[in-house]
Amino acid sequence: MTVYTIGSGKGGAGKTLFTVNAGTALAQLGLKTLIMDCDIGMANLNLVINLESRTEVSLHDVLAEKAEVHEAINHTPYGVDVLPSGLSIAGFKQADPEKLRDVMGQIVDEYDYILIDSPAGISKEAVVPLAVCDEAILIINPELTSITDALKTKLLTEIVGRKVKGVVINRSMGMKGELGVSKIEELLEVDVLGIIPNDKSVVKAAALKVPVVVKEPDSPAAKKIKEIVKKLTNTEASEEQKGDTKKEGFVERLLKSLRAKT
Ligand SMILES: Nc1ncnc2c1ncn2[C@@H]1O[C@H](COP(=O)(O)OP(=O)(O)O)[C@@H](O)[C@H]1O
Ligand SMILES: [Mg+2]
Repeated sequence: MTVYTIGSGKGGAGKTLFTVNAGTALAQLGLKTLIMDCDIGMANLNLVINLESRTEVSLHDVLAEKAEVHEAINHTPYGVDVLPSGLSIAGFKQADPEKLRDVMGQIVDEYDYILIDSPAGISKEAVVPLAVCDEAILIINPELTSITDALKTKLLTEIVGRKVKGVVINRSMGMKGELGVSKIEELLEVDVLGIIPNDKSVVKAAALKVPVVVKEPDSPAAKKIKEIVKKLTNTEASEEQKGDTKKEGFVERLLKSLRAKT
């Protein structure tokens, strides 16, 4: 199992778009996948994907120890499961992000992939999701402010002992003056996993609460997202083939952190 946290730095970069669509694309490949809305202050993941039967409880209730995590997991018509966050400020105030590690421990064995949609910024709510993943994927827009903010998130990820898998450049317009792949790789010192173009299909699909990889699988954005997902699953497979025993999985780390507490 692999847990990726989708981070950015700046808000509006496309974290939720990527989480929903990469998660759906993984499910389309037959991989059991959960997407979690850990943007617990500005939750909106469940506003852009239809849920089969909306549960009453959310991650807020789970993090406030008012509900059990499995009660909050929803199925979707697209194969991917969703753990939504609550929308109320009252619920946010009661939720304790520190509980996230324990919550993850209860579900991680049940999925091939868990993608965590996380908040922008450098608050505690943003840092905890970075601390519980295997690796972080950073979403950026091809402009300098987005990149400087992403650099902070990368440094935070490293401070909490995790690594950045790579960055995804989103909303590229292919314009002159946009920062290119080599410049971004040089500035952030991480690989670019792919470039998603600015594409109106994304907005149309989100309005219908259908992932664009389902609604318009041949649109430019959907094709790129599927390519990135293929790349992620291929690198996983080749790491396994290499017998990469050095890679410490989520469960190993969880046990280590539990031991450290005692
Ligand atoms: N590639 C894209 N093309 C067009 N619109 C996009 C694209 N990616 C994201 N958007 C739009 O930009 C807005 C912000 O995206 P979102 O995924 O919610 O960002 P974040 O979760 O990082 O705050 C949304 O309205 C979304 O539909
Ligand atoms: Mg979002």
